Parts: sequence; structure tokens; C-alpha cells
Amino acid sequence: MKISKLIFLGLIFSLLYSCGSGSSDNSADGPKPAPKSMIPDEVDPMDNIGVGPITEAISLPETIDDAMVAEGKEVYEAMCTACHKADKKFVGPAPAGIMERRNPTWIMNMILDPEKMVKEDPLAKKLLIEYNGAPMANQGLTEEQARAILEYFRTL
Ligand code: HEC
Repeated sequence: MKISKLIFLGLIFSLLYSCGSGSSDNSADGPKPAPKSMIPDEVDPMDNIGVGPITEAISLPETIDDAMVAEGKEVYEAMCTACHKADKKFVGPAPAGIMERRNPTWIMNMILDPEKMVKEDPLAKKLLIEYNGAPMANQGLTEEQARAILEYFRTL
């Protein structure tokens, strides 16, 4: 008796289940995307200039300035390699390919005022969480030094 009751219940549940999933999932085979309401409003990272001392989007000239690259590399090696490795995730993210992921002005602001960035910029906030709360260090660079590092990043 008990067993047939269980089978009966099982049948009902499997029927309900197949109806439920069949009607809502007719679009794709892959995993369902999260409902819209769960995705925070996001700006394209390439359009996000961040917050900090640089308030207007800088534009980079076509050609890379070798002298600036050399200066930037020097500053980077002295001030940044404790936490960053060029093409490997370390204490912080790898700068290789960063020019394709981030707006150049955002990078400048991240270098010049990481405290403000991780407090107010949605992308930097997310990074801080991703890196388990290890904050990016403010190395007290001048704007010129930060700009030189940016030029160096263009070569990675
Ligand atoms: C004490 C460790 C530390 C030092 C030193 C440090 N950083 Fe970082 N950096 C981080 C961490 C950790 C992150 C990830 C973001 C966060 O947690 O705030 C980060 C993030 C960044 C980002 C954003 C990367 C991305 O993919 O979006 C840039 C750009 C950056 N750092 C540049 C530099 C530069 C340039 C220097 C040297 C002037 C430097 N950092 C020195 C730890 C450091």
C-alpha cells in the first residue's frame, strides 16, 4: 500500500516538474541566465573612467612613446611588482591585456586614488571583493608617473 502511494506521489511530482520546466525553458540548452533583477546595473568597463583626480577621459595618441614606456617600466618595477606580475595573477591582477579591459582613465584613477576607487567605483569595488579584500596600494605616484606606467601597460 505505502509503496504504491509513494509511486503515485512521485508520478505527480515528476509531472508537475516537467510541466513547470518545459514551459519556461524553451529558448536554449545552456544554463539559464540569472533573472534581470539579480544583475546589478553595469556600465561597460571600457566606458567607465572611474573616480579620482582624473575627471576627464584622456585620449592616447596612436603611437607608443618609447621614452615614456621606459620611465613607466622603471617606476612599475620599483613600486608595483610586490603585488603585480606582468602576465600572471598575483596579489593583484595581471596588467597584461588591461588596455582591452579597462578605460585608460580608470587605470590612472586606480593608480592615483585606489582608496576612493574601491569605495565609490562599482568595478573597483567588485575587484576588491574578488581579491578577498586585499586593497590596491596607493603608492603616492605623480600623475606623470602614472601616465608613464599606462604607456608601459600598452606594451604588455
Ligand atoms: C600592496 C599590493 C599592491 C601594490 C603595491 C600595488 N597594487 Fe595594484 N592592485 C592590488 C590589488 C590587490 C588589486 C585588486 C583590486 C583591489 O583589491 O583593490 C590591484 C588592482 C590594480 C589595478 C586594477 C587592475 C585591473 O585589472 O582592473 C591596477 C591598474 C593596478 N592595481 C595598478 C598598480 C600599479 C601601477 C601599482 C604601482 C604603482 C600597483 N598597482 C601597486 C595590489 C597592489
